Amino acid sequence: MANYEDIFKKIISHAKEYGYVFQSSEIYDGLAAAYDYGPFGVELKNNIKNYWWKSMVNMHENIVGLDSAIFMHPNTWKASGHIDAFNDPLIDNRDSKKRYRADVLIEDYLSKIEVKIEKDCAKAQKRYGDNFNKTEFISTNSRVLERQKKVDEIKEKMNHLLSSGDFEKIKLLINDLEIKCPVSGTNNWTDVRQFNLMFKTKVGATEGSSTDLYLRPETAQGIFVNFSNVQKTTRMKIPFGIAQIGKAFRNEIIARQFIFRMREFEQMEMQFFVRPSDEMKWYKYWKEFRMKWHESLGMGKQNYRFHDHETLAHYANAATDIQFNFPFGFKELEGIHSRTDFDLKSHQKYSGKKLQFFDNEVNKSYVPYVIETSIGLDRMFLAVLSHAFHEEQVNDNEKRVVLKLPSLLAPVKAAVLPLTKKDGMPQKAKEIMRSIKLDFNCQYEEKDSIGKRYRRQDAIGTPFCITVDHQTLDDNTITLRDRDSMKQERIAVNKLHSIIYKKINLAKYLL
Ligand code: GAP
Repeated sequence: MANYEDIFKKIISHAKEYGYVFQSSEIYDGLAAAYDYGPFGVELKNNIKNYWWKSMVNMHENIVGLDSAIFMHPNTWKASGHIDAFNDPLIDNRDSKKRYRADVLIEDYLSKIEVKIEKDCAKAQKRYGDNFNKTEFISTNSRVLERQKKVDEIKEKMNHLLSSGDFEKIKLLINDLEIKCPVSGTNNWTDVRQFNLMFKTKVGATEGSSTDLYLRPETAQGIFVNFSNVQKTTRMKIPFGIAQIGKAFRNEIIARQFIFRMREFEQMEMQFFVRPSDEMKWYKYWKEFRMKWHESLGMGKQNYRFHDHETLAHYANAATDIQFNFPFGFKELEGIHSRTDFDLKSHQKYSGKKLQFFDNEVNKSYVPYVIETSIGLDRMFLAVLSHAFHEEQVNDNEKRVVLKLPSLLAPVKAAVLPLTKKDGMPQKAKEIMRSIKLDFNCQYEEKDSIGKRYRRQDAIGTPFCITVDHQTLDDNTITLRDRDSMKQERIAVNKLHSIIYKKINLAKYLL
């Protein structure tokens, strides 16, 4: 069986070969941790955005949208705490001269133990077959319990040291665990130092008159500073939310795992403003709602889990991650945070402007509390793409690579394929294409054998192939091929629209 690294490599090269994701500036040998989305990638990205926007904004009468500027007044980042506290703890290996995030080195060490636990489970599953109960095994097997105890203890220690800023002891922990540099193989480490993740730039014509600006590291602050503008112009009453999709930038030192951790990425964030003391009720609501959103795409409930934070950021009184089972294990896909009134209060202080709401039900003004849902668009893209990727044996001597994307998100919904280039089939195929392409993104292809064209559409992830043949010209029927089952059925052309619509109808996902 191929290991996860091989599968992940295949996914990355498939993404390139089929126009999903390219390395940025590839002709100049690429720029690390920056990626461009190709013709199919941009469609998939737009479909994910659309699904998020519909369910968060259009389906909630008390959530409205925003598109704020990437550049913001520099005091924004003083107020938000990013200038003082948005740091990563870095450590260098003196032999390889490679730089690492100290917490990531420890997390990688822990992941290896977690992989061992999974291997223990796989072995036991093999031995006990259908009688195997994973939950029971994990909670009773002494070896697994021992491994899990070790993971929990190290995690707790690391989190405590990170939140108290005790970097000397973080280095000691790395040494105690005998963590070695993957490149040099030694543990000749420097001290751990803090490194701010924000990109700085200058705006202005001359050196003297220029101002230091930062590229925003999260979209959320654009929402906070516009709280009053949005509330007044929309006459929203608490509880209400503001949603935004946009670019964010972080000078990640260890940018890796393809589009999982990048320096330029996109976030889909929503800040939900609530009455003080109501925040836990809404935190619970948004935790459940966001998990349902993920599950509705049909990528397997078992592939998601919550990871509640034990140590909290200075602004939060509760926080959880929704983790997804990526090819390299369960990792954060989305964060849900109860951010208290920290951000609005801090912006009030730094700007001198009131950021309050007069609640006439309780007849008083207050600074609202905030629940935030924050998902990385690129990570969601990677979750969808990696889950969809399958290599299948079709028959004794044929394999296919197929992207089993949720139909709603597939870049191309249907491919229209004349069986041959003769006898008016291309004309008929184009006529069919014209009748559906306004509602569904379609592709017309007449080159190569029909088998090759099916394989290409499988590799792109197109849910339907519509084949126009001789019979079409006689009785106005086509064959409709299903991507996943590869079954073909003969249907009347006038039924096509409703069949495709039924498969990708948002109501099926959202209502
Ligand atoms: N406003 C809250 C916030 O930004 P975060 O946990 O730092 O919280 C939210 O980021 C989400 O943004 C993450 O769950 C992840 O999906 C995505 N994200 C964060 N850093 C990223 C990076 N370097 N590359 C890609 N996605 C990233």
